[in-house]
Amino acid sequence: MRWREGRSRLHHGRPAPVPQVRDRVLVLGAGAREHAIVQALARSPRAPELICAPGNVGIARDAAVRVLRPDDRGEVVGLARELRPTLVVVGPEAPLVAGIADALAEAGIRCFGPTGEAARLEGSKSYCKEVMVAAGVPTAAHSVVRTVSEGLAAIHRYPVVIKADGLAAGKGVVIAENEAQATAALRELLVERRFATERVVVEEHLVGEELSLLALCDGVNAVALASARDYKRIYNGDLGPNTGGMGSFSPVPAVDERRAQEICAAVHQPVLDELARRGTPFHGVLYAGLMMTEDGPKVLEFNVRFGDPETQAILPRLRSDLLKLLEAACEPGGLAGVGPLLWADQMAVTVVLASAGYPESFSSGDVITGLDRVPENVFVTHAGTGRGRGGELVTAAGRVLSVTALGPDAATARAAAYSAADMIRFDGRQMRRDIALRVAP
Ligand code: AMP
Ligand code: GLY
Repeated sequence: MRWREGRSRLHHGRPAPVPQVRDRVLVLGAGAREHAIVQALARSPRAPELICAPGNVGIARDAAVRVLRPDDRGEVVGLARELRPTLVVVGPEAPLVAGIADALAEAGIRCFGPTGEAARLEGSKSYCKEVMVAAGVPTAAHSVVRTVSEGLAAIHRYPVVIKADGLAAGKGVVIAENEAQATAALRELLVERRFATERVVVEEHLVGEELSLLALCDGVNAVALASARDYKRIYNGDLGPNTGGMGSFSPVPAVDERRAQEICAAVHQPVLDELARRGTPFHGVLYAGLMMTEDGPKVLEFNVRFGDPETQAILPRLRSDLLKLLEAACEPGGLAGVGPLLWADQMAVTVVLASAGYPESFSSGDVITGLDRVPENVFVTHAGTGRGRGGELVTAAGRVLSVTALGPDAATARAAAYSAADMIRFDGRQMRRDIALRVAP
């Protein structure tokens, strides 16, 4: 509640207690990532008032929800003007690339997330490559091409990676094994224009373990969050088509806090410095998708926001106040004073439950049962859930729920996550059985 001017602030000749203005945070987005952000903010000692737009039926238990299209600048600024939040946190990339942070700044509202110009790092793969080369960040060798013949001429060996230049919801990357596949991929992107992109990045194929390393950035400093690994394919053993993410774990044992800061110094910091030099300082989460090659870590991509489902595994271990950190990142150089981040000395494992047909399609209206049996210490975050006609919880999209458990080691965390995930049932439920198996034999 905001404090209002009262009639008299004097009681018995003494000044009344100074009113505490409660923090009010507006989170934009509707997925399990945003639910994890809401849950982490709710753990802040400042107990902020939380509003999520549009949110979902699960988020509605932890925050007030408001109907809204997060990519619509007018709607977002309108709601922010009405609510006057002390902070807006943007979950997905599309509103950031569309310049939501700029629009909120113009309206005088503090926003955690990069400007539209800085968000081009995710919005355009060719721009991202240009910045990496200028910043001297290790990445795969590449060419930017505009025609199929230019593309084929740029290929020196197979497999080769072919990427659409613009946002493609994770579906714009093809690994071509031979010339026929490369030609088909180039034609699809440059002739059939599957993603309204005029340019394509043709890139060296890297081999190694993938790593997600997210850093909080205040325009000047990059502070690494705990390392994480996500699982993009639908089936066990990394088989089948790519999805939005079927599970994750954090931290990655080989990348402890010290190693994470080292990678951050070699990867995130030079990008931050380069963007500052260009006059577009980066505030928000800079997420590096890395390949740990024999020659060291190399960047596959940058995202300009929290990862999904990495965030569901990262934030439950954070013992520092997320609200304070996000606010500090909004101020130029603001993270310098926050000190080292504190983490629970535990492993977190996140398993995603998806509906039948995902990722090609999805099944809605399947009744979800068993959530009431999940133990208190397991974090359940909602993505594609909704209400059926009788008010029962039902599936409403491809990825339905994320289930995260912590444990003293990976095997214990895995067992707890799968035990809880197995309690939650709906027709056609899909989940991978091998999340974090590699680190918990
Ligand atoms: P991106 O959207 O650029 O992260 O690519 C999506 C996925 O494609 C990555 O998570 C990797 O699994 C794969 N990938 C992208 N670039 C490369 C590369 N240069 N070499 C090998 N795999 C890649
Ligand atoms: N976990 C992949 C992403 O958030 O883009």
